[in-house]
Amino acid sequence: MNLTVNGKSLPVTSPPDTPLLYVLRDELGIDSPQFGCGLAQCGACSVLVDGQEVRSCVTPASMAVGKEVTTLEGLPARWAARKHSAQNQATQNAKEALHPVQLAWIEQQVPLCGFCQSGMMIKATELLEHKPNPTDAEISEAFTTGGVSPHLCRCGTYIAIKDAVRHASKLMAEGEV
Ligand code: FES
Ligand code: FES
Repeated sequence: MNLTVNGKSLPVTSPPDTPLLYVLRDELGIDSPQFGCGLAQCGACSVLVDGQEVRSCVTPASMAVGKEVTTLEGLPARWAARKHSAQNQATQNAKEALHPVQLAWIEQQVPLCGFCQSGMMIKATELLEHKPNPTDAEISEAFTTGGVSPHLCRCGTYIAIKDAVRHASKLMAEGEV
Protein backbone atom coordinates (compact mmCIF):
# COMPACT_ATOMS: atom_id res chain seq x y z
CA MET A 1 0.00 0.00 0.00
CA ASN A 2 0.95 3.65 -0.34
CA LEU A 3 0.49 6.30 2.30
CA THR A 4 0.53 10.04 1.72
CA VAL A 5 2.49 11.55 4.59
CA ASN A 6 3.37 15.23 4.77
CA GLY A 7 2.59 15.66 1.07
CA LYS A 8 4.64 12.70 -0.19
CA SER A 9 3.24 9.40 -1.45
CA LEU A 10 5.34 6.68 0.17
CA PRO A 11 5.30 2.90 -0.40
CA VAL A 12 4.71 0.86 2.76
CA THR A 13 5.42 -2.86 3.09
CA SER A 14 4.12 -3.37 6.65
CA PRO A 15 0.93 -5.48 6.96
CA PRO A 16 -2.19 -3.29 6.60
CA ASP A 17 -3.24 -3.87 10.22
CA THR A 18 0.06 -2.53 11.58
CA PRO A 19 -0.57 0.50 13.81
CA LEU A 20 0.01 3.70 11.88
CA LEU A 21 2.42 4.80 14.63
CA TYR A 22 4.74 1.86 13.96
CA VAL A 23 4.68 2.47 10.21
CA LEU A 24 5.50 6.15 10.67
CA ARG A 25 8.30 5.60 13.16
CA ASP A 26 9.79 2.22 12.23
CA GLU A 27 9.28 2.03 8.47
CA LEU A 28 9.17 5.65 7.35
CA GLY A 29 11.55 7.13 9.94
CA ILE A 30 9.12 9.89 11.01
CA ASP A 31 9.73 10.10 14.72
CA SER A 32 7.68 13.03 16.06
CA PRO A 33 4.70 10.87 17.12
CA GLN A 34 5.61 9.10 20.35
CA PHE A 35 4.55 5.80 21.91
CA GLY A 36 3.11 6.73 25.30
CA CYS A 37 0.30 4.43 26.46
CA GLY A 38 -0.53 2.48 23.31
CA LEU A 39 -4.18 2.63 24.40
CA ALA A 40 -5.50 5.88 22.89
CA GLN A 41 -5.36 7.45 26.35
CA CYS A 42 -2.53 10.01 26.24
CA GLY A 43 -2.29 11.66 22.79
CA ALA A 44 1.50 11.38 22.49
CA CYS A 45 1.08 9.52 19.19
CA SER A 46 -1.45 11.91 17.64
CA VAL A 47 -1.25 12.81 13.96
CA LEU A 48 -3.71 14.48 11.59
CA VAL A 49 -5.55 12.31 9.05
CA ASP A 50 -7.46 14.52 6.62
CA GLY A 51 -7.28 17.26 9.25
CA GLN A 52 -8.67 15.19 12.13
CA GLU A 53 -6.59 14.20 15.13
CA VAL A 54 -6.06 10.43 15.17
CA ARG A 55 -4.42 8.26 17.84
CA SER A 56 -1.93 6.48 15.60
CA CYS A 57 -1.09 3.83 18.23
CA VAL A 58 -4.50 2.18 17.79
CA THR A 59 -5.18 3.10 14.16
CA PRO A 60 -4.39 0.50 11.47
CA ALA A 61 -2.19 1.93 8.74
CA SER A 62 -4.74 0.79 6.13
CA MET A 63 -7.19 3.34 7.55
CA ALA A 64 -4.95 6.13 6.20
CA VAL A 65 -4.79 4.85 2.60
CA GLY A 66 -6.12 7.51 0.24
CA LYS A 67 -5.97 10.14 2.98
CA GLU A 68 -3.48 12.85 3.92
CA VAL A 69 -1.42 12.14 7.03
CA THR A 70 0.27 15.14 8.66
CA THR A 71 2.82 14.90 11.45
CA LEU A 72 4.67 17.64 13.31
CA GLU A 73 7.30 17.59 10.55
CA GLY A 74 4.61 18.48 7.99
CA LEU A 75 3.12 21.48 9.80
CA PRO A 76 5.28 24.13 8.05
CA ALA A 77 4.19 22.92 4.59
CA ARG A 78 0.59 22.60 5.80
CA TRP A 79 0.65 26.24 6.88
CA ALA A 80 2.33 27.32 3.63
CA ALA A 81 -0.32 25.54 1.58
CA ARG A 82 -3.03 27.26 3.56
CA LYS A 83 -1.55 30.68 2.95
CA HIS A 84 -0.43 30.51 -0.65
CA SER A 85 -1.42 28.92 -3.92
CA ALA A 86 0.54 25.89 -5.12
CA GLN A 87 3.65 26.43 -7.29
CA ASN A 88 4.08 29.89 -5.92
CA GLN A 89 7.69 30.71 -5.07
CA ALA A 90 6.48 32.14 -1.80
CA THR A 91 5.15 28.71 -0.97
CA GLN A 92 8.57 27.20 -1.38
CA ASN A 93 10.02 29.82 0.94
CA ALA A 94 7.19 29.48 3.43
CA LYS A 95 7.72 25.71 3.62
CA GLU A 96 10.93 26.50 5.44
CA ALA A 97 9.06 28.57 8.05
CA LEU A 98 7.50 27.08 11.13
CA HIS A 99 3.74 26.77 11.57
CA PRO A 100 2.32 29.47 13.90
CA VAL A 101 1.52 26.73 16.43
CA GLN A 102 5.19 25.73 16.47
CA LEU A 103 6.27 29.37 16.76
CA ALA A 104 3.86 29.95 19.63
CA TRP A 105 5.15 26.85 21.44
CA ILE A 106 8.69 28.21 21.18
CA GLU A 107 7.77 31.76 22.16
CA GLN A 108 5.79 30.54 25.18
CA GLN A 109 8.57 28.05 26.08
CA VAL A 110 5.98 25.30 26.54
CA PRO A 111 7.92 22.01 26.62
CA LEU A 112 9.60 20.62 29.69
CA CYS A 113 10.65 17.04 28.89
CA GLY A 114 8.89 17.41 25.54
CA PHE A 115 7.58 13.87 25.24
CA CYS A 116 3.92 14.84 24.89
CA GLN A 117 4.42 18.01 22.89
CA SER A 118 4.20 16.70 19.33
CA GLY A 119 0.70 15.42 20.12
CA MET A 120 -0.15 18.68 21.85
CA MET A 121 0.84 20.73 18.78
CA ILE A 122 -1.10 18.39 16.50
CA LYS A 123 -4.16 18.86 18.71
CA ALA A 124 -3.69 22.63 18.74
CA THR A 125 -3.47 22.67 14.94
CA GLU A 126 -6.67 20.65 14.60
CA LEU A 127 -8.45 22.93 17.08
CA LEU A 128 -7.37 26.20 15.43
CA GLU A 129 -8.15 24.98 11.91
CA HIS A 130 -11.73 24.28 13.03
CA LYS A 131 -12.09 27.10 15.58
CA PRO A 132 -9.72 29.98 14.76
CA ASN A 133 -10.64 31.87 17.93
CA PRO A 134 -11.48 29.25 20.57
CA THR A 135 -12.84 30.17 23.98
CA ASP A 136 -10.92 29.31 27.14
CA ALA A 137 -13.43 26.53 27.76
CA GLU A 138 -12.87 25.09 24.29
CA ILE A 139 -9.09 25.16 24.78
CA SER A 140 -9.43 23.47 28.17
CA GLU A 141 -11.69 20.82 26.68
CA ALA A 142 -9.17 20.11 23.90
CA PHE A 143 -6.37 19.49 26.38
CA THR A 144 -8.32 17.59 28.98
CA THR A 145 -6.76 14.94 31.20
CA GLY A 146 -9.95 12.88 31.13
CA GLY A 147 -12.99 12.27 28.97
CA VAL A 148 -13.04 10.70 25.54
CA SER A 149 -9.94 12.47 24.17
CA PRO A 150 -7.38 12.99 26.93
CA HIS A 151 -4.04 14.66 26.27
CA LEU A 152 -1.69 13.87 29.12
CA CYS A 153 1.37 15.90 30.11
CA ARG A 154 3.16 14.38 33.04
CA CYS A 155 5.24 17.57 33.39
CA GLY A 156 2.08 19.64 33.87
CA THR A 157 2.54 22.19 31.07
CA TYR A 158 -1.18 22.81 30.66
CA ILE A 159 -1.11 26.50 31.59
CA ALA A 160 1.68 27.17 29.09
CA ILE A 161 -0.17 25.13 26.44
CA LYS A 162 -3.30 27.24 26.88
CA ASP A 163 -1.24 30.45 26.58
CA ALA A 164 0.45 29.10 23.46
CA VAL A 165 -2.88 28.18 21.82
CA ARG A 166 -4.16 31.72 22.42
CA HIS A 167 -0.90 33.12 20.99
CA ALA A 168 -1.03 30.79 17.97
CA SER A 169 -4.60 31.91 17.30
CA LYS A 170 -3.36 35.51 17.02
CA LEU A 171 -0.37 34.55 14.85
CA MET A 172 -2.60 32.59 12.48
CA ALA A 173 -5.05 35.49 12.19
CA GLU A 174 -2.18 37.88 11.41
CA GLY A 175 -0.62 35.47 8.95
CA GLU A 176 -3.66 34.74 6.82
CA VAL A 177 -3.58 36.27 3.33
S1 FES B 1 0.42 6.35 22.67
FE1 FES B 1 -1.35 6.65 21.49
S2 FES B 1 -2.72 7.68 22.82
FE2 FES B 1 -1.03 7.18 24.08
S1 FES C 1 6.38 18.16 28.63
FE1 FES C 1 6.93 16.32 29.70
S2 FES C 1 5.16 15.06 29.47
FE2 FES C 1 4.55 16.96 28.64
